[in-house]
Amino acid sequence: MRLKNGSSIIIGIVFVVVAISMLIIQPAIAATPNLPNNSCADCHRKLLFSTEEQRQFIDIRIKHLESGISCSIVCHEDKLNKTTASTYALWSISTHALFDVTCEKCHGGNASAVSKQEAHVGLSNISIARANTPDTCGKCHQAELGEFKGSKHFMKLESGEEGPAPACITCHQAHSVRVLTASEIEDFCSNCHNHITGIDPSVPQKAENALSSVGELQVEISKARSAINTAKAKGLDVTEAQANLDSAMAILKDTPSVWHRFNLTFFDTEVQKGIAEAQKATNATSYAQATPAATKAPGFGAALFILGLFVAYFLKRS
Ligand code: HEC
Ligand code: HEC
Ligand code: HEC
Ligand code: HEC
Ligand code: HEC
Repeated sequence: MRLKNGSSIIIGIVFVVVAISMLIIQPAIAATPNLPNNSCADCHRKLLFSTEEQRQFIDIRIKHLESGISCSIVCHEDKLNKTTASTYALWSISTHALFDVTCEKCHGGNASAVSKQEAHVGLSNISIARANTPDTCGKCHQAELGEFKGSKHFMKLESGEEGPAPACITCHQAHSVRVLTASEIEDFCSNCHNHITGIDPSVPQKAENALSSVGELQVEISKARSAINTAKAKGLDVTEAQANLDSAMAILKDTPSVWHRFNLTFFDTEVQKGIAEAQKATNATSYAQATPAATKAPGFGAALFILGLFVAYFLKRS
């Protein structure tokens, strides 16, 4: 009887807790649309898939993106992103959509106006012009812009001379903001860097090697991390190893921005420095000394000693 009572009280409490948490959570879910008060995204979402042909094209495009087919970034987007429907489709599955980098952040306009006419007041063609994208994108990506300004790519863009030079959207595209991986690099860079244009044709291969070595840096860092964890578990002093690991990690963190200086020798030197630091960390753990954790041992020893005295005393008495 008592048990039955007890369990019904528990059930009652659980029920009340669940009911209260549902009351708290439910309205929060209902009241939070994906992007609060953004008419650009709201309205442009409805423009999606206006014709059957567009719909099929976009389906293919999204499948490409999802399976990471590099061709899609080069072949299809330029044609596609001229249509309003596809810009939304590309953007909606991008990192920018996840982080609320909405249309007006680059295009201008009024994202709280409901009608097209009002919302479009202030749309700018200047901010999205290819050669101006370093400044438009650089508002939020200062580190990349800072490095990019020191590159030959930027010098060429700024000079206004004839001939191609890549801006941010050449490599990332305006709406999908994809990041080229090491395996896509060679193909992509050789669009411009080849024997026909005469723009340094040795770049694509070197660039692929340089980006691949970042993977090597990541491997060395995780090796160092587990070596340090093992050493710590043994009570060894890992201060020196940790310092080396920290500097390797700082170098890794900076690689994406440093990359934009487009000085492959400099980039490679940085990555190799990081690899060396990580390897130093791994090695340092192997000759690490036992830490002051040793101070615990005398305490335990003393207790044992006193216990031993007692045991000896009683043994002697009996
Ligand atoms: C009520 C609907 C609606 C709203 C709100 C809206 N748009 Fe549009 N937008 C349209 C339509 C319709 C088009 C033309 C579609 C076409 O021609 O394919 C368009 C076209 C565009 C274009 C193509 C260039 C041009 O001038 O035609 C851009 C860029 C654009 N919108 C950006 C924005 C931005 C940024 C916002 C928010 C500040 C926004 N839109 C809000 C409906 C809207
Ligand atoms: C990160 C910046 C950025 C965001 C966010 C962005 N765009 Fe764009 N958009 C651009 C750039 C840059 C271009 C020019 C692309 C080119 O020249 O190839 C462009 C081109 C376009 C075009 C082609 C028409 C034209 O005027 O040339 C449309 C339409 C468009 N964007 C709509 C949108 C809509 C709708 C959204 C939100 C769902 C959006 N964009 C979000 C940067 C952005
Ligand atoms: C309003 C701020 C803002 C603007 C403008 C902006 N971005 Fe971003 N971007 C972000 C944020 C936030 C992220 C996600 C967090 C991060 O990676 O820093 C991001 C992420 C990225 C990424 C990484 C994507 C990934 O999958 O890892 C790239 C590449 C990128 N942006 C390129 C661009 C380009 C190119 C432009 C200009 C056409 C641009 N951004 C304009 C805020 C912005
Ligand atoms: C010639 C091609 C190229 C150009 C031009 C370029 N990028 Fe990149 N960008 C890359 C590549 C490749 C990476 C990946 C680097 C890496 O993995 O270390 C990258 C990485 C990034 C990232 C970081 C993504 C991450 O994982 O953290 C951002 C943000 C970014 N670029 C923004 C920009 C901006 C802003 C501009 C213009 C000022 C620009 N990029 C110009 C090729 C380019
Ligand atoms: C749209 C054309 C274009 C694309 C795409 C392009 N580049 Fe370039 N690149 C140039 C031009 C133009 C120069 C400047 C050549 C000069 O001034 O001597 C250059 C110069 C360079 C340099 C300096 C070379 C040197 O000899 O000092 C590096 C490094 C470089 N690019 C890397 C890359 C990488 C990596 C990619 C691919 C992610 C890439 N580029 C994609 C046009 C391009």
